[in-house]
Amino acid sequence: MTTKNQHHHTSSSGWLRHLTALAFVALSTACLSGNALGQTAESAHQNDGPWWKHAVVYEIYPRSYQDSNGDGIGDLNGITRRLDYLQNLGVDAIWIAPMYPSPQVDFGYDISDYENVDPKYGTVADMDHLIAEGKQRNIRVLLDMVLNHTSDKHQWFIDSASSRTNPKHDWYVWNDGLPANGPNVTAYQKRFEHEGRVPPNNWISGFGGSAWEWVPAVHQFYYHKFYKQQPDLNWRNPAVEKACFDAMRFWLDRGVAGFRLDAIPTLFEDTQLRDEPDAGGINAQGDPNLKDIYTSNLPDVHDVMRRMRAMVEKYPGNRVLIGETYLPNTAALNEWYGGEKHDELQLPMDMLLGFHGDHDKLDASSFRKFINEAETQLYGSQPLFVFDNHDNVRSWDRYGDGVHNQQIARILATILFTTRSTALMWEGEELGMVTTTPTRREDVKDPIGITGWPKEKGRDGERTPMQWDSSKDAGFSDAAKTWLPVAPDYKTVNVKTEEADPNSLLNWHKKLIAMRRNDPTLRDGKQVMIDDTNPSVLSYVREGVAGNPAVVVAMNFTAQPQTVSLEPKQANVSGSTVTTLLTDAPSLQETTSLQKITLPPYASWIGSIK
Ligand code: NOJ
Repeated sequence: MTTKNQHHHTSSSGWLRHLTALAFVALSTACLSGNALGQTAESAHQNDGPWWKHAVVYEIYPRSYQDSNGDGIGDLNGITRRLDYLQNLGVDAIWIAPMYPSPQVDFGYDISDYENVDPKYGTVADMDHLIAEGKQRNIRVLLDMVLNHTSDKHQWFIDSASSRTNPKHDWYVWNDGLPANGPNVTAYQKRFEHEGRVPPNNWISGFGGSAWEWVPAVHQFYYHKFYKQQPDLNWRNPAVEKACFDAMRFWLDRGVAGFRLDAIPTLFEDTQLRDEPDAGGINAQGDPNLKDIYTSNLPDVHDVMRRMRAMVEKYPGNRVLIGETYLPNTAALNEWYGGEKHDELQLPMDMLLGFHGDHDKLDASSFRKFINEAETQLYGSQPLFVFDNHDNVRSWDRYGDGVHNQQIARILATILFTTRSTALMWEGEELGMVTTTPTRREDVKDPIGITGWPKEKGRDGERTPMQWDSSKDAGFSDAAKTWLPVAPDYKTVNVKTEEADPNSLLNWHKKLIAMRRNDPTLRDGKQVMIDDTNPSVLSYVREGVAGNPAVVVAMNFTAQPQTVSLEPKQANVSGSTVTTLLTDAPSLQETTSLQKITLPPYASWIGSIK
């Protein structure tokens, strides 16, 4: 399996999907103003569970959101400036990708100090200010916590790599390697020979090359799942857990509402260092594809997750743990909640729905399957759906057919906000920002796009600056040059233009979010699939809550008109008279019956049943 072709216009940029694909092989895979509502939503719904259960979480890449000091790079004060926009959209929490001091090899995912802010992004005082301003608007701040690895410039690693007797030596995963002339040493291992030693096994870095890097000062290799500048911490050493929990407490004490846990399934590696099975073929970085069964999702990680949950729960206010959990199936996802015990993460991401295959297809049957599994196979845990992030080609391009992208984006948003799931969105998704992949290798900023060119062009395309208005550089920055170029469509695809257009994708998002905030049925109603063998139309009912009407949703996943007759009885819902709550098809605006509804190509329709 490769990640090729997930892009309709370039080759792959989805290394994460590569890892996921391997795991698959291994284990089998009313137009209301959000602003006005934002003030009251929380108090109005005090009794329906913790805040995160109905939240809209919005991911921000600090480099790309808003530059406030003219250096071409976004920053914390820039985010603070845009809080009114986020409140107006209906966002409950922002997840800020790593803003800690970092050499920026992996744009912040290589942290050199967990208890500070990178000067490029501001100061700890700026973060305090952002948290306080967020609070004024009922917007919580979630930080990205990278626990699998640090930067090689973190003092912990500098100490660890200084000598075998340094007290921090065992904080990372070190190995003597094997004699290069020993039995069973492969040609691949020999490529990484140093001082007559080769890596102890065939493990590869997700970013290319051997996962083992030689350090002459200690005559040992260290393990890195990602870039060699990102050495893996040794989670078998209790001192590492303590130091990492301390770093989390530093921010919890300052009022952050929780964390998104980066690459969390990869904390542990097989102690026997067994070779990973070959999955066939060569990846974009020129390495053999492996099934990562010995370096990902090891059972040991769950003990840490339980202790972390217990630690976080000591804080008031329902702090939340979100996991970056690319997993092979719903059963594996369930384990990340702690199954029936619900004692691990509150919200491990369900990547099955939004990133479910080699080629993300808009396929009603597979969407139905994954949405339904999340409803029925997670012991009542709260699903967290997501279609977009800073590591993958934008959903606009992955699901779009090049003709109906607008409508298709509306289908994805409809699913995100009308299913029972907590919603996770990525900056610009609400605008229909496109993936703008570099066309020349010399322009690439993401290192995997440089080493993998042209098969892998990296992740710059989905990280271009947020498009605020039609002024120079889309209102992102007034620097002469921005760190990544603004996408060429910014004159029409931007916040200001879309705010003024009642039919824009941005306003579609606002309407959906406002509906869901206000309707107890959309918040908590049981979700039941109807017309559930239809290969072309995805339909479901949300059963009415507290005397409120049931809601029915139908979306046409094809380029042809589709006629459906819906039977909500399947979902314990009586009534056959409907009124349209929201649709992007003018012909469906006056729908009054559930019989013979003709959905135009890729139309979304939401109705209320009486
Ligand atoms: C997942 C992050 O989302 C990605 O951007 C990063 O490169 C890797 N983890 C490594 O930290």
